[in-house]
Amino acid sequence: MRAYIKGTGSYAPKNVVKNSYFDAIGSSDEWIYDKLGISERRISTGETTSDLAYQAALIALTDAGLSPMDIDLIVLATATPDRPVPSCACFVQEKLGATRAVSFDISAVCSGALFAAATGVQFIESGMYQNVLVIGADTFSNITDWTRRDAVFFGDGAGAFVLSATEEDKGFLDFDLNSDGRGKDHFTIPSGGSERPTSPETISEGQHFFQMNGKEVFNTAIEVVPQSINTLLKKNKVDIDAIKCLLPHQPSIRILREVAHRVNLPFDKVKTNMDRYANTSGGTIPIILDETLKNEIFEQGDLLLFAAVGAGWTWGTALYKW
Ligand SMILES: CC(C)(COP(=O)(O)OP(=O)(O)OC[C@H]1O[C@@H](n2cnc3c(N)ncnc32)[C@H](O)[C@@H]1OP(=O)(O)O)[C@@H](O)C(=O)NCCC(=O)NCCS
Repeated sequence: MRAYIKGTGSYAPKNVVKNSYFDAIGSSDEWIYDKLGISERRISTGETTSDLAYQAALIALTDAGLSPMDIDLIVLATATPDRPVPSCACFVQEKLGATRAVSFDISAVCSGALFAAATGVQFIESGMYQNVLVIGADTFSNITDWTRRDAVFFGDGAGAFVLSATEEDKGFLDFDLNSDGRGKDHFTIPSGGSERPTSPETISEGQHFFQMNGKEVFNTAIEVVPQSINTLLKKNKVDIDAIKCLLPHQPSIRILREVAHRVNLPFDKVKTNMDRYANTSGGTIPIILDETLKNEIFEQGDLLLFAAVGAGWTWGTALYKW
């Protein structure tokens, strides 16, 4: 039994924030575009993470020709759930009326959608479930200090895809997944958990906003992502030249160029949309997947790669056969 992508959808808030917005905090369009490849991002004006996830899920279900009651499991990757408890997946389940579906969140930040896909695939390959709704959704605008220059990196958005069981020779072939908790301080939200519960002091110090060590993220990403891609390709005896395209997480154009260079993949095979959305964290891979599939037709047997890196550290690669 394999799990294949039966339908996709994506959704982002209508509100567009251009790079020029950050002139006031000492950044510039030139710096942001040059360093990150970002021109603009969508920022929620009240929609929650589950609102975005719900909209993306509706489109994915329609695309798959399924109804909410066909879904056995909802796996939602997010770092910005509507509430710390309960899971954001339960919010989406209620909004969809998908009352048959078991629902839970995955916490792997920017690698979340990849880890969620791997989770969904296991339930299908084991024969336990037939249809799994995988969602990646985030509203980093809620954990961003808008007075700091690192506010330029992220946007809000969601993507979703339906995984269904098939006996045909297609779908997800394999994953390479990794974590390294020694990286936990390089991208983190210091307060709001059991280590440092929210208090007037943590709020006044801005400890409820994300803190990022940009250089560490960059240096780690360009090491571990190529390693992961090469490991998975070698294990599956696939040459990089056989890859039709890479659908990666969207941290920055420079990271993706360096990754492509290190694995000998021509950059025109790397799909990007960070110019329009910035980094939507859990949303990036399902959004780029949805956009790609709505603009391009793949042929039976085409091999696709997915790759991501995020806080934790977490990172990995997936190999998919069309
Ligand atoms: C953040 C990043 C762009 C910094 O690149 P860098 O070349 O190492 O830049 P530096 O930190 O040395 O800073 C270079 C200059 O840009 C300036 N700068 C830093 N942030 C800036 C911002 N947001 N806007 C404008 N200028 C900025 C610095 O002050 C410095 O100026 P100076 O040369 O006058 O001193 C790079 O490390 C990166 O892309 N990291 C990955 C971040 C990421 O992808 N995060 C997503 C998480 S998955």
